[in-house]
Amino acid sequence: MVEDGRYYPALKGLSVRQDRMTPYYEAAWDMRSAVMLDWIEAGETSLARLLSRFQEHERHYKIYAGTDGDILSGWLRWWDRTNDWPWRGLKKLETSQPAVSRGLDVDLSPYVKFDLSEMLCDFADDVDTIVELGSGYGLQLFKLYHAGAPASARYVGAEISSSGRALAETLAALEPGLRFESREFDLNRPDWSILDGSRKALIFSSWALMYPHSLPNDFFEGLSRWAGAATLVFCEPLGYQWGVSHPMSENQMSAARAGQLNCNLAALAADATAKGLIEPLLVAKDVFSCSQDDAFDLMSVLVYAKPES
Ligand SMILES: C[S@@+](CC[C@H](N)C(=O)[O-])C[C@H]1O[C@@H](n2cnc3c(N)ncnc32)[C@H](O)[C@@H]1O
Repeated sequence: MVEDGRYYPALKGLSVRQDRMTPYYEAAWDMRSAVMLDWIEAGETSLARLLSRFQEHERHYKIYAGTDGDILSGWLRWWDRTNDWPWRGLKKLETSQPAVSRGLDVDLSPYVKFDLSEMLCDFADDVDTIVELGSGYGLQLFKLYHAGAPASARYVGAEISSSGRALAETLAALEPGLRFESREFDLNRPDWSILDGSRKALIFSSWALMYPHSLPNDFFEGLSRWAGAATLVFCEPLGYQWGVSHPMSENQMSAARAGQLNCNLAALAADATAKGLIEPLLVAKDVFSCSQDDAFDLMSVLVYAKPES
């Protein structure tokens, strides 16, 4: 593998900097589907194994977007990112990786990761519904289920791209005990009917609220029209909105000013708090990044409670 180039007309001519995320993810999830569907056809039946194999695949190969200057050419390819892959075990044991933990620069073994599913599990006691906003192909939801979140809950992947939703449905079918559904959902026009029938939910996001430059003003008002109670856990590279501290959060601010990152989540949450629609529980700023120079990697975790009404 894998010099698997594919042409996506919807990407051609878009700027690499703006307005490309929806068509880009439509195409990128399609590239990933091709790999995973091949493996399923070749006999892979375990969802847990398939997800781990695919995460390994993405450590080896990266989706590379062809460009003419700043303009996407329409081609996506799997690009071999390590030329000494067979030696990765020796190399990783010998090196450390400049990372950030709780706002501090640290050197970590490349084998140390932030366990998002364990963290989300801690917020999932007794919920009847777990919703991920901007869920891609469902990876975080599946990992959360495997980490021991309630088996009886309904798991909802709320995602804008049809390719992400379709792949999530295919993968969920490998796990017969999982109550999963993909729902079409646009953060710019959230339709909270995805929560209908639920009384207690965990609603989370992972690197998704970052994309709409400006979330709609009635984001939390719309949610508050649903009567149930929820914990909201947003895992996003948006810590800069609660104060710039680490140099990477300064880079987040610059990216937001250039229109590449959300700029109003903190303001909307403060407004919704003042109106009594949500209660802020924690701003865990700059919790983790595997790098010290990728502003989009540095995750903060923002936790709110939405009371029953
Ligand atoms: C970086 S991926 C993260 C996927 C998933 N949350 C995860 O952690 O594996 C960002 C996701 O947000 C979705 N997204 C971007 N803009 C969106 C929007 N306006 N409404 C809903 N989803 C959106 C993309 O389609 C993509 O699936």
